[in-house]
Amino acid sequence: MGKYIIAGNWKMNKLPSETYDFVKEVVEATKGAECEVVCCTPYVCLAPAVEAAKGTHVKIGAENLHFEDSGAYTGEVSADMLVDLGVDYVIIGHSERRAYNNETDETVNKKIKKALAKCLVPIVCVGESLEEREAGITMDLITIQIKKAFAEIPAEDAAKVVVAYEPIWAIGTGKTATDDQAEEVCGAIRKVLAALYNESVAADVTIQYGGSMNAKNCAGLLAKENIDGGLIGGASLKAPDFATIVAAAK
Ligand code: 13P
Repeated sequence: MGKYIIAGNWKMNKLPSETYDFVKEVVEATKGAECEVVCCTPYVCLAPAVEAAKGTHVKIGAENLHFEDSGAYTGEVSADMLVDLGVDYVIIGHSERRAYNNETDETVNKKIKKALAKCLVPIVCVGESLEEREAGITMDLITIQIKKAFAEIPAEDAAKVVVAYEPIWAIGTGKTATDDQAEEVCGAIRKVLAALYNESVAADVTIQYGGSMNAKNCAGLLAKENIDGGLIGGASLKAPDFATIVAAAK
């Protein structure tokens, strides 16, 4: 299926002053990785992160971007700014941004297009809440999120997008989706992509699982056919744990 990618999402953790040493630790701990290794950091940590990762196998990502090129958007950061720093990846539409920062399927779509136009790899997050799962509408909701995220994105660009399936009820709760639950939704996402584009594009898209993935539960999840990696929150803040997850992805 898609290329294996293990990406850490630091969220609002770690200081700029501790970033360089920590990324160096990740580089050391993940030497010989058979998958792509990414650290997505807060904006203010990106410069030291890029510096530490320079010339290594580790790539650096941001946790958000603005969809406009420049202008009067106080407090925002553009794709060009990220590219100028040497950033390669960007997380788009994380459920925390959808919940607290008015991120919508429409802004997610605009941000994906901007990231692709600037050659940043977008990691696009989708996922259902516990209420939505219990109401039996998980697949409907994910289908809508995927269709809206990929709206007007041509087939030649679609496989450059990474999709992260992150059930909201599993994020930061210690409550992981079972291997089968995660595989079921990731497989459904691939079917939606096959219907939107074709089987070959769908097969090339990297689909990650995220939500309390850790050193203990990663092997079962990553062994599933339609799970091509992970988006890791808490466990990405400790280099040995993150490295164990990276080692399981091959
Ligand atoms: P946790 O791994 O801390 O549950 O976070 C998952 C996540 O939201 C990654 O984007």
